[in-house]
Amino acid sequence: MKMKRAIVIITSLLALQAYGQPHDWENPAVLGIHKLPYHATLQLPSREKECKEIVSLDGQWLFHWSPTPESRPADFYREDYDVSQWGKITVPGNWQTQGYGTPIYTNIEYPFVRNRPSVTTEPPKDWTAYENRNPVGSYVTFVDVTEEMLRQHLILHFGGVHSAMYLWINGRQVGYSQNSMTPAEFDVTKYMRVGKNRLAVEVYRWSDGSYLEDQDMWRLSGIYRPVQLWVRPLVHISDYQVTAVPNGDYSQADVKADISLCNVGNKAVNGLQAVLKINRHNIKTAVKSLSVGDTTTICLHEIIDKPQLWSAEKPCLYPFSVELLDEKGTVIEHFDYHLGVKKVEVVGEVFKINGKNVKLRGVNRHDHHPQTGRYVDDATYEEDIRLMKQANINFLRTSHYPDREYLYELCDRWGIYVMDEANHETHGYGYANEEMGEDLAWQQAHVDRAESLVKRDFNHPCVILWSLGNEGGVGSNIEAMYNKVKALDITRPPFYDSDRRYSCIWDDSYLYPDVLKKNAQAVTDKPFMMREYAHAMGNSCGNLQEYWDVIYADSSIVGAAIWDWVDQGLLKDGYYAYGGDFGDKPNDGPFCINGLIDPDRKPHPHYYEVQYVYQPLQFLQEGDSLIRIVNRDFFTQIDEYEYYCEVYHNGELVSGELARVKDGRFEIPYPYFPYDDPELILNVYARLKEAKPWAPEGFVIAREQFVLKPHEFWSALGGEDAKAVKSADRAVYTTDNGSATISPTGALVSWVADGQEMLQSPLEPYFWKPENDNQHAAHFAEVSALWQDAAEKRTVKAVRIEGNQVVVEMSLAIGAELTLTYQVKADGRIKVDMAYKPTATDLPLMPKFGMRMRLPTDFTQIRYYGRGPWENYPDRKGSALIGIYETSLKDYETEYIHPQDNGNRSDIRWFEIGKLHIEGLQPLCIRAWDYGEEDLVGVRHPQEIKRGRFVNLNIDLSVHGVGGADTWGKHTLPQYTIPANQPHHYSFVLSSR
Ligand code: GAL
Ligand code: MG
Repeated sequence: MKMKRAIVIITSLLALQAYGQPHDWENPAVLGIHKLPYHATLQLPSREKECKEIVSLDGQWLFHWSPTPESRPADFYREDYDVSQWGKITVPGNWQTQGYGTPIYTNIEYPFVRNRPSVTTEPPKDWTAYENRNPVGSYVTFVDVTEEMLRQHLILHFGGVHSAMYLWINGRQVGYSQNSMTPAEFDVTKYMRVGKNRLAVEVYRWSDGSYLEDQDMWRLSGIYRPVQLWVRPLVHISDYQVTAVPNGDYSQADVKADISLCNVGNKAVNGLQAVLKINRHNIKTAVKSLSVGDTTTICLHEIIDKPQLWSAEKPCLYPFSVELLDEKGTVIEHFDYHLGVKKVEVVGEVFKINGKNVKLRGVNRHDHHPQTGRYVDDATYEEDIRLMKQANINFLRTSHYPDREYLYELCDRWGIYVMDEANHETHGYGYANEEMGEDLAWQQAHVDRAESLVKRDFNHPCVILWSLGNEGGVGSNIEAMYNKVKALDITRPPFYDSDRRYSCIWDDSYLYPDVLKKNAQAVTDKPFMMREYAHAMGNSCGNLQEYWDVIYADSSIVGAAIWDWVDQGLLKDGYYAYGGDFGDKPNDGPFCINGLIDPDRKPHPHYYEVQYVYQPLQFLQEGDSLIRIVNRDFFTQIDEYEYYCEVYHNGELVSGELARVKDGRFEIPYPYFPYDDPELILNVYARLKEAKPWAPEGFVIAREQFVLKPHEFWSALGGEDAKAVKSADRAVYTTDNGSATISPTGALVSWVADGQEMLQSPLEPYFWKPENDNQHAAHFAEVSALWQDAAEKRTVKAVRIEGNQVVVEMSLAIGAELTLTYQVKADGRIKVDMAYKPTATDLPLMPKFGMRMRLPTDFTQIRYYGRGPWENYPDRKGSALIGIYETSLKDYETEYIHPQDNGNRSDIRWFEIGKLHIEGLQPLCIRAWDYGEEDLVGVRHPQEIKRGRFVNLNIDLSVHGVGGADTWGKHTLPQYTIPANQPHHYSFVLSSR
């Protein structure tokens, strides 16, 4: 009887385990099992190879992928489980980028059904997660351990595993971890044996942790950061934290090193010494004895007199090392690191670094690589930070999680202020939601993410702010994160966007420039910043200068960070894939393609605008003869650069010389020139006097252009007229080298020069322009739809020959009068003049004012005098200096990953393409493509565009600016739009070459 009862109890307990108990990976109370405490990165990442304690386990591992937990090989961890038929996978890496499972790109919506803590609730049938309910990756690798190693302390370190993992060694379970963007460590000493050891890791694509990882990015999985076996002495340094804060007058810095020592051996040790080596000093403390299982923290101090401060401008570092010595004085452990002396303060509504009201010229960055997904190699990190420094970016937000450690070292060394962000976003519950912010069952899970962030990156001087996450909850859980950060670090304050009570800076993002100005003035108790602005999706980043005019004018605005750095395209069959391209569902299409650079790190045109607007020096003309230099930096003097002046006559370089700076000014060189009507332009450049790790000597850090004497556009055409003759219903000019024909529609339908027909399609008025992403989001195409065929729907009222001019009067159905006037010269030049007068009063903005024609396919060589070399638009042209540029049609176009309007050049004086020469009678905007507007309709990727049937040329007075605020509804600033309720007029001259 008794026996029977016992059995019943046992079976029901088992049942409880199976049915009642949640999985660890669907239980927010279980964040890890046997996971070691978080600690600082012990060895400088670039010097890990010198650290004898580290054995890298990176390389090819055995791998098996299962679509669901139920179908996984549950006992694969056993030593006798046959894995000989398994595939291989590279560690570190994501499994979706190596042929297993499906990458999913979603922004706000969770890729699984939102029903916390479950991640396996049945989704709609067409979701990726329906079949692949929660894919599991099973990994096996082997590691050799010697007797010598086994006598020491063995720690297995996983740099990052997405999203949750179990670890077994030699068939025995070691532990469990989630929180996917910071290291997980396990003491594996007792599981290892001499010889070959079998490591088995089971990774779940989703876990309850995924509810806190709803960042707008590709959802990828696996062991994606390095794996290391640390072979540590039984008595060792378990952690150290170094602060180096200058005193009030910056005459001294107090270096404080808290070094934690622990004894994991089985006998007490005596006579230990901890040493901090810095500045040629050895600061030591003896630890009398450390008993078994004990940890002690000792504090070492050093004063640095007249410290050189660390800043992004001058990243002065003090290398140091921490050592542990045994009683004989032998070094048991040695780690190398560096510190930077700096002070971060919030003083009223002013944010200060080293006492100065610095401006954070920022960018947000996701850790993304087109081939390896979330694993980004060292060389790509270097390329990213180099390109940032070259673009005068001084502030990086590691949106929205901690990156791999080496990135922070680069920011320390090359000089970038970092907002280090916790791996926390719950956007799927709404921005600033209480559901997650107040659910106490999730509090520890929140705090864990703040703690792991601060503890790992504590010793990086580049970190100036700790961010509690992005687009998460409000309430108690955030307060708990905030308190944790405050308790861990008093030298750098917490920041948070969604619950401003727990942020030292008031964030209000994606504002228009004038709203930024107003809102920043209204907030008086804290500094103000836009943690994100200038949504750089596709052809974008207009009105950047307007933002910075506001930011520089208000000392309470800390700065702003562009969204974001790199297009998150994944390379697939030779093109860059975005949401939906893998059949992933739900997905947010191309909304991850928002970078200043391509996935392969090639800068977009707007990268250069950032470089220009972010430049630390501004040049202002004073009177006729002086240029004044304004320094926006604080720790760099203007004489640390050299200044170079170039003078151009009509685009031709006539002089180049170094400027002599006195009192922050230099004289404008006016070289002798013999012409009486030249455009006279001065370009000034500030160049690096010496090479930096991120740029060669001579690299241009700042530039400006001054038009000293403007271009004189023609007003009248000289030379003999050709005669216009009516022939049938057309007006025909015969010239010395051919003819020009105007049809009853008012279009120039034929133009023969030296036996060649120059036109593949007529030259006609055309007011339409395809959208860019910003305009699409602002419903520009819908609002301006009537312009699409506004020119087509014209009624020609009269075609008159007046003297030798052909005048075509027409009315547009939308409610406007349009007059085209042609004048042809005997030598073949054709002057075209277009005048627009609205009759309606409520016309929507015009996409562009101008004309269009199609040219033969071999007209592909381009040379022009205007803004370049890169694409520029009325609201994004500061970086594109006026000059003579030569390029091919292919390079004139910009190939956006998500095809859209592109390639404009502004302020064009003259333009040549193939045999055609165009002369503006005022500045022109010109776009040239080897496809038509219609070829962009419905196209998702560049390779789908039908090219090569003609050359499409738009010759405009102006085009609607690209817009610069966001890609979810904000508009191009009014000063960069074309109001249709007022007259417009322009002219240009065509000739053949
Ligand atoms: C922001 C968000 C980013 C990104 C961006 C749109 O609000 O913080 O993570 O989603 O919008 O690209
Ligand atoms: Mg979001």
